[in-house]
Amino acid sequence: MKKNIVHHVGLKLILTATTLLASASIRAQTTIPIATAKNAIVLQTDKENRLRTVYFGKALDNTADYAATANQYNFNDGNAAITNVAYTPAGTWNLLEPAIQVVHADGNRSLELKYVSHTVTTVDANTTLTAIVLKDPVYPFFVTLCYKVWKAENVIEQWTEIKHTEAKDVTLEKYASANLYFSNKDFYVTTFQGAYAREMQPAETKLLQGTRTIDSKLGTRAMLLQSPNFIVSFGKPASETEGMTMVGQLAWSGNFKLDFEIDSYKNLRLMAGINPYESAYALPPNEVFKTPSLVYALSNNGTGEASRGLHQWARKYRVLDGEGQRLTLLNNWEATYFDFDENKISGLFKDAKDLGVDMFLLDDGWFGNKYPRNGDKSGLGDWQENVKKLPNGLGYLVKKAGAEGIKFGIWIEPEMVNPKSELYEKHLDWVIRQPERPEVYFRNQLELDLSNPKVQDFVFSIVDNLFTKNPDLAFIKWDCNAVIYNAYSEYLHQKGLPQTELYVKYVHGLYNVLQRIRAKYPKVPMMLCSGGGGRGDYEMLKYFTEFWPSDDTDPIERIFMQWDYSYFFPAIVTDNHVTDWGKEPLKFRVDVACMGKLGFDIVAAKLSTTDKQFAKEAVATYNTYKDVVWHGDMYRLINPHENDISALMYVAGDKSKAIVFNYLVNNRQMITATERPVQLQGLDAQKHYSVKEINLYPDGHKSPIAEGSDYTGDFLMKVGINPHVTKNRTSVVLQIDEIK
Ligand code: DGJ
Repeated sequence: MKKNIVHHVGLKLILTATTLLASASIRAQTTIPIATAKNAIVLQTDKENRLRTVYFGKALDNTADYAATANQYNFNDGNAAITNVAYTPAGTWNLLEPAIQVVHADGNRSLELKYVSHTVTTVDANTTLTAIVLKDPVYPFFVTLCYKVWKAENVIEQWTEIKHTEAKDVTLEKYASANLYFSNKDFYVTTFQGAYAREMQPAETKLLQGTRTIDSKLGTRAMLLQSPNFIVSFGKPASETEGMTMVGQLAWSGNFKLDFEIDSYKNLRLMAGINPYESAYALPPNEVFKTPSLVYALSNNGTGEASRGLHQWARKYRVLDGEGQRLTLLNNWEATYFDFDENKISGLFKDAKDLGVDMFLLDDGWFGNKYPRNGDKSGLGDWQENVKKLPNGLGYLVKKAGAEGIKFGIWIEPEMVNPKSELYEKHLDWVIRQPERPEVYFRNQLELDLSNPKVQDFVFSIVDNLFTKNPDLAFIKWDCNAVIYNAYSEYLHQKGLPQTELYVKYVHGLYNVLQRIRAKYPKVPMMLCSGGGGRGDYEMLKYFTEFWPSDDTDPIERIFMQWDYSYFFPAIVTDNHVTDWGKEPLKFRVDVACMGKLGFDIVAAKLSTTDKQFAKEAVATYNTYKDVVWHGDMYRLINPHENDISALMYVAGDKSKAIVFNYLVNNRQMITATERPVQLQGLDAQKHYSVKEINLYPDGHKSPIAEGSDYTGDFLMKVGINPHVTKNRTSVVLQIDEIK
């Protein structure tokens, strides 16, 4: 239960201002620490009553000490640029990249923001919300900076609320979520680029003076080419176990922009928010514009601790059913593509049952009659069962699956339309397209205009109809395979609203639909898919239980990709399917998929007898330890980007059990066996543990890892255990159990 205790104005202190950040006279300053258990960002008013960021670093024992932090820095040369302002306005004194840029109702383009007041609300014992009100002294224009802090997890969520009471609309040209400021000797930033089937490729760089910008203008599938996820390492390159680190994400499913600017003091200004590109927004008087959130975890001990904090936060506070269960599944996409009918599908239920998974997932191709969805060129938008393929409808399949003892899930792509569809014929005005220009397609399809409430109703009705007609439907895979070309909304045009609002209103419309879905169907698991990892952020994950990181399921590629996603997302939200991609044997593919939520997308009936036996046993074993993978703490042990092997482990909260995954990732040189042990982490040094190899392939080979062993946690973490990875043992999974 939320307590909502409000402490008005946390710290108001009188300081002798001897530094250049304060004035030479004695004056009242307001100091606002935004502190997690281990780190703090400190904001303080200056003599002009502007709010500055004066400290970022380790949390102090004594809260009152934060007021004096600014005194220890000398960053002022009397220059007009005040680089550390907490939310930098445009059009007055600021000459740097602004956080906010507006055109007032009277056409004036200047903005100044001064501190007015702040409140600190206790949400629960672990969570506080600090809201700081800033105001323009000339115009009735207000900005509230909001910081929600989860102390134990060292996680901060930061956003901005903008409001005015001017006579007419104010145009917001830029409206960042966060304008952070960090002082340190050097800054290293890791960003993630990609493309279809090559998602999340990391690149770390030392920031030099100037600005490094990461952004998306794709409209949807925000993460396809560049990712709103990033790592900042302070003072030295990012390390898994050492150094001050920030692991962050702009939680927004549309166009985003991250600016990492090194200023003339060699400090870092980090600006994050909706991409201002073609996104001017006319804000009516008295309405609040809430920006998306910048979510970040902080750590003084490297990326590992930061990721674990973010994972714990995500499971406990953010992801839908983050602490719950998930359904293992068999999907038919790569087994059948569009070529199936009712008999073929119901024949696969037996395979799912044989494998021992919880659910069968029917993918793309089940709908469309006038324009059947027999390929990706037609049918999107016409969400009625194809009568030839499914003469007895979905209801029949749901029931039949139930009779086999498995659940049934379904694929949809509700935001899209093929020009070859009845929907397109009936509702051209619902389609995002330039009326006078040739259409541009991405996978032969176009986006529906979710800024239009009628389109929102339509998208809601797709899901609602499915559940109303099939109450036992257990799962939805929500795909999104196109970006927005020719951004133009007939709806906004009819309403006399600026076209530049389309990108923002599209995303708001989508969230609207998802809120309605969740109001009516609060718990049904839904997977966010995007023809790969073009989507998956902490705003969408309020509504989705999981996401699809990439269509690339080559297990070697996946070891890297899952490693890189793991900086930001816990294993329980990443769906990993065993497919026929890559050259690795089934065991390797299954082991890699077990490092998240396990699924299969293969023709199970075609597996050899031993492969099938292995897969069944692996699913049964997975069921015994999945709780550790889904809800435990993850430790990245050996980085595949830097080594011939990769190792990663999950440890149960009470440290009684752990699973360690080890893989050969570099086949170039002959290795006889891994020379050195892998040092484990996260165990209890005092506890005694047994180590056994699991997921052994049933071909008679014995594991070189002796069972019945007794190791202390101390030994396993200091000396380690050798998984004996060789060219014949390219994938080794170890189970560590406390000996009680
Ligand atoms: C892209 C997804 O990533 C695939 O898994 C599959 O669902 C196809 N779309 C279907 O069109």
